[in-house]
Amino acid sequence: MKNLKSFLTGSVVLIAGLSFLSLSANAQPKPWTVPAEYKTMKNPVAKSDASDKAGMALYTKNCASCHGKAGLGDGVKARMLKDFPGDFSGAGFQNQTDGEHFYKTRSGNGEMPKYEGKLADDDIWNIVNYLGTFKK
Ligand code: HEC
Repeated sequence: MKNLKSFLTGSVVLIAGLSFLSLSANAQPKPWTVPAEYKTMKNPVAKSDASDKAGMALYTKNCASCHGKAGLGDGVKARMLKDFPGDFSGAGFQNQTDGEHFYKTRSGNGEMPKYEGKLADDDIWNIVNYLGTFKK
């Protein structure tokens, strides 16, 4: 009885360990899927110095720890992440629409946290406007 119990416990631990290993070996960031209605969504917050300023304060507080002050993906937390947070200054990022940046910030993906319910939509749009200032 005791042997059976420790055999079973051992097997469970072994199986859990093996499945954890195989999961982490295959870990790949899930590709983003941005719904079409977000891609073409109009930014309701006009670009202005006031919006950039509000966006900068929110970005510094919520995003810079991973994305870095200038959006280069070099924040202090970035080296603890499995996935590179991206370079916000490059064309691959800047050529996306405001709606894509809004959707990604609001919904998160993998290690990128979800800000829906944490930040008001208008604040996310202010951040989106500020992200545009990282363009090289
Ligand atoms: C805990 C670290 C972390 C924080 C904090 C964080 N992000 Fe991210 N972010 C990531 C990672 C990692 C990715 C890449 C995820 C992926 O590709 O699946 C990412 C991706 C993104 C993308 C998509 C980039 C692209 O190339 O399309 C946007 C937009 C974004 N983040 C915006 C923000 C904003 C805005 C904030 C603050 C409100 C923020 N993030 C806070 C880690 C973070």
